[in-house]
Amino acid sequence: SSKAKVAYVCTQCGADHSKWQGQCAECGEWNTLSEFVVEPAAGKGGAPAAARRSGWAGKVDPPKVTALKDVTRTEEARVSTGIGELDRVLGGGLVPGAVVLVGGDPGIGKSTLLLQAVAAMGARLPSLYVTGEESLAQVAGRGARLGLPLDGVSALAETGIERILEQAASMKPGLVVADSVQTLWTESLTAAPGSVSQVRESAARLVRYAKETGTAVFLVGHVTKEGGIAGPRVLEHMVDAVLYFEGESGSRFRVLRAFKNRFGAVNELGVFAMGDKGLREVANPSAIFLSGSEGPQPGSCVMVTREGTRPLLVEVQALVDSSPLSNPRRVAVGLEGNRLAMLLAVLHRHGGVAVGDQDVFVNVVGGIRVQETAADLPVLLAVLSSLRDQPLPERTIAFGEVGLSGEIRPVPNGEDRLKEAATHGFRRAIVPRANAPKGRRVGELEVVPARTLSEALDAL
Ligand code: TYD
Ligand code: MG
Repeated sequence: SSKAKVAYVCTQCGADHSKWQGQCAECGEWNTLSEFVVEPAAGKGGAPAAARRSGWAGKVDPPKVTALKDVTRTEEARVSTGIGELDRVLGGGLVPGAVVLVGGDPGIGKSTLLLQAVAAMGARLPSLYVTGEESLAQVAGRGARLGLPLDGVSALAETGIERILEQAASMKPGLVVADSVQTLWTESLTAAPGSVSQVRESAARLVRYAKETGTAVFLVGHVTKEGGIAGPRVLEHMVDAVLYFEGESGSRFRVLRAFKNRFGAVNELGVFAMGDKGLREVANPSAIFLSGSEGPQPGSCVMVTREGTRPLLVEVQALVDSSPLSNPRRVAVGLEGNRLAMLLAVLHRHGGVAVGDQDVFVNVVGGIRVQETAADLPVLLAVLSSLRDQPLPERTIAFGEVGLSGEIRPVPNGEDRLKEAATHGFRRAIVPRANAPKGRRVGELEVVPARTLSEALDAL
């Protein structure tokens, strides 16, 4: 039989390399390449790898070239998961045959979420919940404790992919949950379970199964810091959607974020609260990402973000403190670090405010991540407020992108954001001029337009 080929996969970004090297050529991380054994062809003269992967070699006629306009299009029929916030992040429900990776830290609530989902779908979409981490008794016990109807749900405690697929083939469920993908292994590889090659090959089998049978598949993946165990990153390329489940330790709020979605928008957020009855949907989450402190505090600025399709009030906090270091620290939690460095340079050059000898820490409250540039202005206002030890005026919000020449650029859906702020009792909004409505008011909210950073600072 042919010899197994070895490739190298970056556990950080999932990029393939033919040779081992110290640094990933794709994402630049060090020591993240992990050996990956490519499955040897079955017997002599086996089909080429690509053909085997697509599943047609030697079985049926090779595929024919077709004019795209002649292809019958199928409207994706979506199945509601019965959990509105999960449907929202999926892009309006679950698509048959779709493979969805749900990643997150251990203990964040992935198993809870998926058990609640399969229970809510019940007989509408009979599911097979495959657990490799807990016993059947543990899964059933959790279901009972959460008061879930488990009628349409079958479970299997198994980690061998061959046996899982065998069971799935006879049961023919509409949905398979594999919890977790890190426990899966295949007989066709000798690598240890949990290794990149095992996880990737097992996931590939499930992807093939999903596509061939039209069965939806949820893969649960623990996010791990160290590269030893294959994290969800190496699977991101293979699946249709990647959802990350995030939250701050100590906070009961959880955010489900679409990081990749072939069937919907990315950056869509679903918000949940973890309680003693499992995860509860927070359908109107706008104000939960505020610190809830009494009155305005120095170093805090509320912004309205609009990641996905709804506006959210989020608090940005900054702490600016004189640094004992020759190279003062810039730390951003929930925001992009490089962006913070750039914004501080703009603040110096165009706002006349120097923080070169200060440590600057910026944090988004509630463990949420804000990726849009609308956070630029709130970040700078929070930094300035901390530096001067002066709170921003009460009930003030801000949003806006800050450019390198100190100009403040408009952001999408300004009106939506302002309405949300007005609804929650805010009185003043400092926003890009193009986002300010003509009358400079939205309900009780006074809108202060700013064209440049210095205009925004003057407005305070
Ligand atoms: P779990 O779904 O097992 O996390 P994961 O699969 O992502 O590892 O959730 C485990 C945590 O959730 C655990 O710390 C306990 C907490 N939890 C509750 O607070 N309430 C509940 O009803 C349940 C089921 C779990
Ligand atoms: Mg779990």
